Amino acid sequence: MQTVSTCEATANIAVVKYWGKRDEKLVLPTNSSLSFTMDEQLKTRTTVMFSEKFSHDEFWLNGAKADLKSGEFAERMVQLQLVREMAGIKTKAKAVSLNCFPTSAGFASSAAGFAALACAASKAAGLNLDARELSILARRGSGSACRSVLGGFVEWKKGDRADGNDSYAQQIASHTHWTELRNVIAVVEAGRKKISSRAGMKQTVATSGLFEARLKGLPQTVEAMKKAVLAKDFPRFAELAMRESSNMHAVMLDTWPPIAYLNDHSKEIMNSVMELNSGGAVAGYTFDAGPNAHIYTLEKDVSKVRRKLGEIPGVKEVIVCKVGAGPKFLMDEKEHLVDSDGNVREHSFSKGKGIVIS
Ligand code: DP6
Repeated sequence: MQTVSTCEATANIAVVKYWGKRDEKLVLPTNSSLSFTMDEQLKTRTTVMFSEKFSHDEFWLNGAKADLKSGEFAERMVQLQLVREMAGIKTKAKAVSLNCFPTSAGFASSAAGFAALACAASKAAGLNLDARELSILARRGSGSACRSVLGGFVEWKKGDRADGNDSYAQQIASHTHWTELRNVIAVVEAGRKKISSRAGMKQTVATSGLFEARLKGLPQTVEAMKKAVLAKDFPRFAELAMRESSNMHAVMLDTWPPIAYLNDHSKEIMNSVMELNSGGAVAGYTFDAGPNAHIYTLEKDVSKVRRKLGEIPGVKEVIVCKVGAGPKFLMDEKEHLVDSDGNVREHSFSKGKGIVIS
């Protein structure tokens, strides 16, 4: 037996953040979260092939073979085993993944990557999973990935069950709901991430005294945010997003040893956005586990935001994203990253050329 599937999924940027797990192994969160799935500028393409020819699983990321014997990667690749169990097969797989992000400045690529892997692996194994099942599968690779199996505005319901079967993503509104919304990404100069999200959130749950207070307030924030987005109430949305981002970064700083993902450039951007908003809401920032800013704004105000970012020397690159439609399968075999003999094809991505496969 030999089967193959290729899927492209895109990153998502949360406006109510996931930071903290109640179950490490099953990747179950301490709170529900909300995000917008981004357009194809932030995509990952993943091909999965199951073949009797393979004696073991292999995972390739951006042209290099990953070590699946131990460590975080091995843990996250449990997805392949889960797919085999669901499909009742024992066949080994080759998974090849390429991040097509316009910069190397350290985006959270895991959401797009593990969503694409869940979609491609399940399809290649002959499964026809619905969005809920795909989301639960993607979650096991990376929590935030469960939100990227859907387009538009998405809620990851934290769930209460110990087995995690009620912890999955649901679409609240499609990508056509708020077409004027943009995410202006300001890429700033940054060193390597000091601590991964996985390790960082574990440390926060274990040591932050403020974390309890954050959890208490979040259900209300989730409801308020949903209401603001459904009503397309930009001023309310922007304020909620900024306050929620600061709340998460406050518990990060309250963690011991402290975690500081924001740098001086990030803080300059925060001040600039507040200046922009002095005459009325124009923009709202949010920051993940890194110093790059995600500035939500409306199409009509993108040039104002760009101009303001142009005044900050630390901003290296600006990317303007729309809300995306979610994962898509690529049927043309020329698009697969593995050839029909099971070999990894030579492949690369560059901003000018896009994906090149030979
Ligand atoms: C700050 O999904 O990368 O981006 O589940 O351990 O893989 P793991 O963590 P991950 O954490 C993302 C954290 C965040 C907030 C968010 O996207 O909600």
